[in-house]
Amino acid sequence: MFKKAATLIALSCVLALSLVMGGCGSSSENAEPAKQASSEMAMVNSGKLTVASDFQFPPFEYMDGSNKTGFSVELVEALAQEMGLEANWLDPIKFDTLVPLVKQGGKIDAAVASITINEERKQEVDFSDPYLDSNQGLAVMKDSNFASQEDLNKAGVKVAVQSGSTGEAWATENLPNAEILVLDDNTAGFAALQSGKADAVALDLPVMQWMVKESYPDAKVIAEIPTGEQYGIAVSKENPELTKKLNEALKTLKDNGKYDEIHKKYFGN
Ligand code: ARG
Repeated sequence: MFKKAATLIALSCVLALSLVMGGCGSSSENAEPAKQASSEMAMVNSGKLTVASDFQFPPFEYMDGSNKTGFSVELVEALAQEMGLEANWLDPIKFDTLVPLVKQGGKIDAAVASITINEERKQEVDFSDPYLDSNQGLAVMKDSNFASQEDLNKAGVKVAVQSGSTGEAWATENLPNAEILVLDDNTAGFAALQSGKADAVALDLPVMQWMVKESYPDAKVIAEIPTGEQYGIAVSKENPELTKKLNEALKTLKDNGKYDEIHKKYFGN
């Protein structure tokens, strides 16, 4: 309770200060708590950065046996370390429930799931600075006759997408004649493709390329769609201090080479 009140005081100070240059004066009783609150992050579990993902999105966040791993997992470990916190990953949670969970508060500090920063989501949560650029892609089976986006935009063609993803939004908008199959995750999407339940999948290109190469060699990428997406870490709007600290830590990791090291490990460059 106190923390919340102090945060509010801190916020109004910042506002007042920026508006009238002065306001919540240094000599008032408010000065101390306000200062403390503004440099304090309210964590769900103290000393920990409690994070959630779906772990169905290689090479960003996925399960290697019973291990949670991937580019974003390692990035978050490094960010947490930089912030003096311990990364605490919850068990996999469905992708389309992550942003609502962050918004709801109390369970996780942040969602890390290659979440594209967009206006719609920014109404619900705050985002860290972008940490990776991405695009959409379309994949079909190698032995199919589909060769382009236009080939898929036809009645009777089924395109699998992940529920709540930008791939779903893109396909719905750009393949209006096709039937969009909305599935829980992209593993289900590729399974539908292989079994003939879907004719194509639409999802983030780097993940598509990885999945085709590592697990579905009988599928192929037929289109790269330059949507210009950027991934960010989703944080509650109630915790701007955490977003700020994440951004500082991200900058440090970019400056000191740690970000590049992790990138190289997963992408080879
Ligand atoms: N970047 C896309 C989006 O924000 C897809 C992200 C899916 N991530 C995942 N971990 N399944 O909608």
